[in-house]
Amino acid sequence: MEILANQLIAKKTWKMMLFCDYQQPLPGQFVEIALPGFYLRRPISICDFESGILTIIYKVVGDGTEAMTRCRPGQHLDIIGPFGNGYNLAVMPQKITLVGGGVGVPPLFYLCKKLLQCNKEVDVILGFNTKEEAFLQQEFAALGVSVKTAIMHGEAEHQGLVTDLFTCCDYVCSCGPEPMLKAVWQQSKEGQYSFEARMGCGFGGCMGCSVETASGMKRICKEGPILTQEEILW
Ligand SMILES: Cc1cc2nc3c(=O)[nH]c(=O)nc-3n(C[C@H](O)[C@H](O)[C@H](O)COP(=O)(O)OP(=O)(O)OC[C@H]3O[C@@H](n4cnc5c(N)ncnc54)[C@H](O)[C@@H]3O)c2cc1C
Ligand code: FES
Repeated sequence: MEILANQLIAKKTWKMMLFCDYQQPLPGQFVEIALPGFYLRRPISICDFESGILTIIYKVVGDGTEAMTRCRPGQHLDIIGPFGNGYNLAVMPQKITLVGGGVGVPPLFYLCKKLLQCNKEVDVILGFNTKEEAFLQQEFAALGVSVKTAIMHGEAEHQGLVTDLFTCCDYVCSCGPEPMLKAVWQQSKEGQYSFEARMGCGFGGCMGCSVETASGMKRICKEGPILTQEEILW
């Protein structure tokens, strides 16, 4: 895919836009990015897809994501996908609360757009470690949904955890660090949760990302990354 833009949008957090020939990826799906000099591809969620342009947001955590920051518009990246099951919109009720933390926020943006297209009522709760690491709040607000943001460290309107802002809701869709997912899951009765796993192949061949669930072993890259409330075993 040809890179259209690659820019810093928050502390250590970059947004990359690419020309892409996908038809309609599902919200919650991810792509696998090959980087020259790195053996394994890096899994990154689809943050948006509109008019043939794919948007991803990635945080620099190691050598692979650091290498991505050096990519320039006009260059091409070897990207395969979309992979994973995606959020299942068909089973969702009318009112949904999206709860995202850190780099778990990007896939919820595309999900939010798809839910609004289905005339669902959506509330958004986002969590970040610091204000400097926060992103996408304005983009969510521009979609016309209510957005609350919890900031863990430093002064903020809501200082603390996303679960402090999460009182009651009909149905939750969440993505973020596992302790956050667990806390949200404990406060919810119904929902869908996106999990991360260290991935080998990324498309179901190596079994390296298998986890035990209430409905048997599941590969996070293939039968996941989205698991439902009742399948999750902590
Ligand atoms: C389904 C899925 C979606 C993801 N979506 C995003 C996203 O939208 N934005 C984002 O910033 N990050 C996302 N991640 C995490 C991202 O894949 C890792 O941060 C990235 O691979 C780290 O690569 P690195 O070379 O910089 O780090 P290193 O630590 O040097 O990576 C070493 C190896 O570990 C793997 N790895 C490291 N951390 C993870 C991880 N958390 N999950 C899976 N493999 C990992 C790498 O692919 C690589 O093979 C996602 C992970 C998964 C599984
Ligand atoms: S990463 Fe190979 S099966 Fe999931």
